[in-house]
Amino acid sequence: MSMKLLRGRTLSFRSRPQARDDASSYVHEDDGGLLIDGGIIVRAGSFADVKAGAPEGVEIVDHRPHLLMAGFIDPHIHFPQMQVTASYAANLLEWLNTYTFVEEQRFAETAHAERFAGLFFDELLRHGTTTAAAYCSVHKGSADAFFAEAFRRNLLMVGGKVMMDRNAPAALTDTAQSGHDDTLAVINDWHGKGRCHVAITPRFAITSTPEQLDAAGSLARRFPELHIQTHLSENDAEIAYTMELYPRASHYTDVYARHGLLGPKTLLGHAIHLNDHEAGLIAETGSIAVHCPTSNLFLGSGLFDLERLSRMGVRVAVATDIGGGTSYSMLRTLDEAYKIQQLRGHRLTPIESFWLATRGNAEALSLARRIGTLDEGSDADIIALDARATPTMAIRMETVSSLEEELFLLQTMGDDRAISAVYVAGEKVTI
Ligand code: GUN
Ligand code: ZN
Repeated sequence: MSMKLLRGRTLSFRSRPQARDDASSYVHEDDGGLLIDGGIIVRAGSFADVKAGAPEGVEIVDHRPHLLMAGFIDPHIHFPQMQVTASYAANLLEWLNTYTFVEEQRFAETAHAERFAGLFFDELLRHGTTTAAAYCSVHKGSADAFFAEAFRRNLLMVGGKVMMDRNAPAALTDTAQSGHDDTLAVINDWHGKGRCHVAITPRFAITSTPEQLDAAGSLARRFPELHIQTHLSENDAEIAYTMELYPRASHYTDVYARHGLLGPKTLLGHAIHLNDHEAGLIAETGSIAVHCPTSNLFLGSGLFDLERLSRMGVRVAVATDIGGGTSYSMLRTLDEAYKIQQLRGHRLTPIESFWLATRGNAEALSLARRIGTLDEGSDADIIALDARATPTMAIRMETVSSLEEELFLLQTMGDDRAISAVYVAGEKVTI
């Protein structure tokens, strides 16, 4: 791991922006420097200051006029759904049964899972995403392929073998016992190896028996440092069926509460249709509502209430949800999140959007001390963003005069083409 000094316009968040012009929430250097050693940002500040303290002859990589930021974080994505994206369906349950549960069966084959692990991380990195929380398939081998590739590339990745023991094809189900045992094996094999984090991953209430949710809860008690990821209240028919399957639960969120699955490491994908009791319970337990805007629009699931949930003290994050989601790009995802809030009569500010994709999502994963900022001591997962990446963007940039306008342009018009460089633990990767 070589020492290097990156030069560029740096932007890193300190806290969640409280207003459109909340300059106290971020640090921006027009000519900034990041000294990287051993995969870590060891000095950050103005280029002149950082260079003055750096060893003579250190390699300098000049990214000006591009914006250097922490790599994007995608806290909800499905590794076995690369070939599900853009499948034509009326709603969530039709989409799952017609396409998703068919495609995921192919991950029983090791060679297939290994091929897609490579393709998956290539796509994430090309889009500037350096960390994701991913669902693998029900097969332990899919998690092995996922983590082997993440480890080989030295990526900080969260992933989990999906637990599902009913309401799916036989080839895509485990049992309460085997789901528990395979998850335990994945934990023993991968958690803490390199930068790998294993998540306990019961898919959702419909595909898990109460016995399986109990098994997931017992793993959560045994390994409280692990993330838990599942889906919650995405679609009306899903909610109705869940309440039939769990008649004693007072609402959908209560299903997970009863099985000990809520807490500060719990990522609840979608969380769209929540009553006040549910939102209160999610806030109280410190669980995270993960908004997946492109997926929610694509599947017609509903409009996430970011403002209400935030006001009620719910921790929030924003994610792609490939393959229900339609883009790997966190820029496209922020754009759609903005539009959903517009429809709800609330305006997301550009700085809040970029906080969400970086430090906000890192805080949601309880990983902000490692990733999501350019703070000294952080892992050097860094991207360079080019707001003139396409002719259309370059023309619009001629009239842009502030950082805020540039960020808004990036999120409104940008995609993978706006990612001009990516560093993983200080090493530049080919994108
Ligand atoms: N609910 C349960 N499984 C899934 C999935 O794979 N994608 C989405 N969007 N929702 C789900
Ligand atoms: Zn999902």
